[in-house]
Amino acid sequence: MRERVGFGTRLGAIAATVGSAVGLGNIWRFPYEAGQNGGGAFILVYIICVILLGVPVIMSEFIIGRSTHKSMMGALKQLKPKSKIYNFTYVCIAGAVITLGFYSVVCGWVMEYLFRAIGGGLSNHTPQEYSQIFNGFTGDGLRCVLWTVLFHAINFWVVSRGVKKGIERVSSIMMPLLFLLLIIFCVNSLLLPNSGKGLRFLLYPDFSQLSWKGVINAMGQAFMSLSLGVAMLITYSSYFSDKMSLTRDATLISVLDTLVAILAGIIIFPAVFSFGMQPEAGPKLIFEILPSIFQQMPGAYIWGVLFFLLLIFASLTSTISISEITIAFLIEERNMSRNRATLCCAMPVLVIATLSALSFNVLSDVTLWGMNLFDVFNYAASNVFMLLGGLFTAVFVGWFLDKRIITEQLTNRGTIKSHAQPYIIFCLRYVAPVTVCLIFLYCVGLI
Ligand code: ALA
Repeated sequence: MRERVGFGTRLGAIAATVGSAVGLGNIWRFPYEAGQNGGGAFILVYIICVILLGVPVIMSEFIIGRSTHKSMMGALKQLKPKSKIYNFTYVCIAGAVITLGFYSVVCGWVMEYLFRAIGGGLSNHTPQEYSQIFNGFTGDGLRCVLWTVLFHAINFWVVSRGVKKGIERVSSIMMPLLFLLLIIFCVNSLLLPNSGKGLRFLLYPDFSQLSWKGVINAMGQAFMSLSLGVAMLITYSSYFSDKMSLTRDATLISVLDTLVAILAGIIIFPAVFSFGMQPEAGPKLIFEILPSIFQQMPGAYIWGVLFFLLLIFASLTSTISISEITIAFLIEERNMSRNRATLCCAMPVLVIATLSALSFNVLSDVTLWGMNLFDVFNYAASNVFMLLGGLFTAVFVGWFLDKRIITEQLTNRGTIKSHAQPYIIFCLRYVAPVTVCLIFLYCVGLI
């Protein structure tokens, strides 16, 4: 990253940012969080979080990244040279490493499912049998660890080679294909018997089903899905051209990311109700439901293989961008070579990944605050580190950054109009800090 080659076109920049945002967070995490937290009510709170917190925090990261064309630590040093706030970068890096650790376990599950789909092992089972297949596989510690390590071998190989551009080019084909596939699956799910019940669960906000924990999870989910608070968007926007409209593009990225999550919900819930399954199944939800959905379709084999392959790509574009945060820091701030930086990033990630993979089997008895280790890392990443990182950038841009820099970035140095500034500033100054602080007080039991 020493040479700062920007994105070639606006479309390329948006595709890369959407590619990094869209991943397992949308397709695996969103449906199970919605399923566990009351469906429609969760989704409504989620959308409110995206509008009130997501878009403004994306904007704050974009403003920091594009105004300096540097990644987080360098950017903060340039914007506030006399203060030590650049040290907050370490919190974001910790968030990125924890995210990579638990996330890659699910990537390993997807690889196992791709492998099974290719071998025909995902065909001709009942939904209950799919549940047993999932439990059997995640009960095998060695297998889970091996898939996770294999996923990271690919992830870190790509990152160490610096072939990110190649991946972006491939993902500009893969991502639209994934989108198309999701639409086809949606139509298929809507045609299933009893699909109306699932659609009602998804779209009708029944607030009696939503707890405060569900509200916190909706907020954490918005931060995870948009990759907020781990400096990822600061890094990406540092490559944006000065002609991009930050307001328009932040809105577009949020809309596309939310759309993918809702499409995933439209695929999963009609099928859940149609097959008589439980929406609260948790992390295993899509692994039980998707194979049953494919089986209903003509050419089930191809749909299964294609879907899991595309999902691995979508996950890889996310993990590559999250890995790049730490690696860019080590190269730019610690003068490491790319290979050495990759190794330094990979080691803690692999420790967390191994602990997470083993928490469904060998370490299943190890719990903290009533959660297994996978859930602890999953919760800490989105509901603690990403929220903290988002709070930091919101407060920094809302209260401490020179207003001229904000205006310059929102209006592209006066060349375009921006009516969003008062809204963005209001959300960054008041809505984001107050909401996130209330959540923390709630989490530590003070309210
Ligand atoms: N934003 C990434 C995802 O949702 C981490 O998969």
